[in-house]
Amino acid sequence: MFDFHFGTRDEIIKNDEEFVLFTKRMLPRWINGIPDSECLALYRILKVNNLKKTALIETGCGASSIALVFHAILNDCKVVSWDTNPSKGSFLKSVINEAICKPLNANINDYWEFIAFDSTNNHLGIAVLSEMKIKPTLGFFDSLHTLDHLIAEINAYSDSASDIFYVVLDDANYTNKEENFSYINMLRTKLKLPSIEQPISNVCKPYHEEIQQFLSEKFKKVERIENDFEKLMTDDIYFDYFQSDWKQMIQKGMAKKTKDRFVSFKIEK
Ligand SMILES: C[S@@+](CC[C@H](N)C(=O)[O-])C[C@H]1O[C@@H](n2cnc3c(N)ncnc32)[C@H](O)[C@@H]1O
Repeated sequence: MFDFHFGTRDEIIKNDEEFVLFTKRMLPRWINGIPDSECLALYRILKVNNLKKTALIETGCGASSIALVFHAILNDCKVVSWDTNPSKGSFLKSVINEAICKPLNANINDYWEFIAFDSTNNHLGIAVLSEMKIKPTLGFFDSLHTLDHLIAEINAYSDSASDIFYVVLDDANYTNKEENFSYINMLRTKLKLPSIEQPISNVCKPYHEEIQQFLSEKFKKVERIENDFEKLMTDDIYFDYFQSDWKQMIQKGMAKKTKDRFVSFKIEK
């Protein structure tokens, strides 16, 4: 059950950030993949840039979906999320329904579309937005974590995006081009297999640099915009709460507490 009582609709709206964290902190670790500071920084990007009556997309669902769908309900937006793991979509639906939609008297289906498929697929991935006549304004990318896949996602998204659009990246400090060897090695360790050495050809510049360059070659104006992640990160209890797991992720090169982990861009076509 996720219908813990936070307060009335007015109290939720007045204490919106506290409510986002209240809901996020009910999630188990497997679906709570970003720090609290990053979830709040994402939520603030939506608020500060006044994103209303528009579409928002996401690849790799979890805590980020809470921030996006909550904002969508309050601002008449539609969120479309892709994740290859259908259980995540189903689990999040019950959390969002009970914790957010019930007190706000909202129908989740009016605000959230979850697609359990590869985000880069031509027939079911981000490319379907144009068939669905959806022009998104913001995309949050947190799925496979390879540069090639990320570029394919952003390409498809920018094709259907509005004339001014936002790109927000998680793990933007990563440098894996074709394969994510940190993740592969973490899973191999669980199988008691030796780690694979990453070939030098797989190393690219950090995603925030590669993506800024990619977008700049394609569009009229690309601006890296400020967000509150660095400021919020300092006092984030998520890192202490999941300390043991984070220690392993840092050792395997999967996580780093750096401001370049969460990066946002504003683009003009
Ligand atoms: C790091 S998690 C996402 C964390 C989430 N944003 C959060 O806030 O908790 C990455 C997710 O990407 C999904 N994924 C991996 N490859 C994908 C692909 N090709 N298309 C869509 N989703 C994918 C995985 O199933 C996984 O759930």
